[in-house]
Amino acid sequence: VTHQGNGLASRRGKVLTTDTMNPSVKKVEYAVRGPIVQRAVEIENELKKGAKKPFSEVIKANIGDAHAMGQQPVTFFRQVLALCSYPELLNSPLFPEDVKSRAGRILQSCGGGSIGAYSASQGIECVRQDVAQYIKQRDGGIPCNPDNIYLSTGASDAIVTILKLLVCGEGRTCTGAMIPIPQYPLYSAALAELGAVQINYYLDEENCWSLNIGELRRALVDARKHCNPRVLCIINPGNPTGQVQSRKCIEDVIRFAAEENLFLMADEVYQDNVYADGCHFHSFKKVLFEMGPQYSNTVELASFHSTSKCYMGECGFRGGYMEVVNMDSDVKAQLTKLVSVRLCPPVPGQALMDLVVNPPKPGEPSHATFMKERTATLRSLAERAKLTEQILNTVPGIHCNPVQGAMYSFPQITIPERAVQEAKEKGQAPDMFYCMKLLDETGICVVPGSGFGQKEGTYHFRMTILPPTDKLKILLQKVKEFHMGFTEQFS
Ligand SMILES: Cc1ncc(COP(=O)(O)O)c(C=O)c1O
Repeated sequence: VTHQGNGLASRRGKVLTTDTMNPSVKKVEYAVRGPIVQRAVEIENELKKGAKKPFSEVIKANIGDAHAMGQQPVTFFRQVLALCSYPELLNSPLFPEDVKSRAGRILQSCGGGSIGAYSASQGIECVRQDVAQYIKQRDGGIPCNPDNIYLSTGASDAIVTILKLLVCGEGRTCTGAMIPIPQYPLYSAALAELGAVQINYYLDEENCWSLNIGELRRALVDARKHCNPRVLCIINPGNPTGQVQSRKCIEDVIRFAAEENLFLMADEVYQDNVYADGCHFHSFKKVLFEMGPQYSNTVELASFHSTSKCYMGECGFRGGYMEVVNMDSDVKAQLTKLVSVRLCPPVPGQALMDLVVNPPKPGEPSHATFMKERTATLRSLAERAKLTEQILNTVPGIHCNPVQGAMYSFPQITIPERAVQEAKEKGQAPDMFYCMKLLDETGICVVPGSGFGQKEGTYHFRMTILPPTDKLKILLQKVKEFHMGFTEQFS
């Protein structure tokens, strides 16, 4: 017992302990930065201190962070952002005229002409207008109202905000949210934190991770016995599974949501990351409107985009937006209130989002360089997607579906029974055991499939396609050698 200065307080231990904290927070898991990454950091520190290992560096293929893996920023974006940050540069001869006029336009719409000022909570007006214009153009002229656009702190923030609006009730009336399995673990984490029920629908690995309406129905019918399913989340192109949904499938999903009275959340942060021949990105908004007023006037939809992925890879700016369609106007007012509590998304992120949706036009000084950089990055990602699939599929015991889009492969791995047993004795998921060993022996950091969810008895890992091609080739070769050695060791 210690006595404080006022003589009154006698400390009985901490107010906040893991026994007394919010139990929902304890349930949150996020594998992409989980134990495997902690171990990777430890190994990096050991290497720095001169420890001898069979490798000289840790290669982080665990997270979709393109710049961290060496991707260069788009010149136009950074030039405009530089001028926005330091307007003195508007007088510099080093910058093209279109860069200056874009920076001037953004600064004019900022409070006090500074990106250091708070903006409107829904986001800067002219940025929302540009986003609406982008969506209209992307969707072949289908109108988009800037009032339906909310800028956000990355897509993550907007996704959690919509889930917050949806979650209510307890027991059998508690909101259930349908999410794909495998999923991007933001969804399971947010649902755990909010105390909602997670409803798993399994993607069909045998059919290139496609979404099957029969499986959606099965999951919904099962879930209705114990909760109130109200929202269906779709990730397209998929993370971690890399599939691109067909137009027909999107139509089926929309019809299903309409029949079953579900709010649709379409996570479209990888909308420019489509590589496979014959695959195209179809936005939920466009398909919804092309299905006619029966659907476009009724089905509630929130769709999400971000500055973090595609050819931009600007994760650190935390730029993003969502478009809400058919949202009840009173709920929209509540949404606007809710986002206003956080004041506003980062203004540099909003400025960047503006540039992404409104890049240089043909004839403007920055257009050629912009197109060259954009095309080179997307072309290289397509090449790496193909390379990853091809090399992984040469390994006996590894099967990798085509990486049609996004930035990941999610191969299935055969883990010998003896290794499964050994993992169980250690209290580890078998694929965690595998990935830990891979990290310890090769320095390659990937994420176990168990962190994303997978069919019982199957094992996977998620690997990004982001390492530069040369490094990726070495990495894949090492994975191949490791897998063969592992299989032999435990057979
Ligand atoms: C499917 C998906 N949605 C959302 C996000 C969140 O991205 P951000 O918050 O950086 O926009 C990610 C990031 O990896 C993702 O893969």
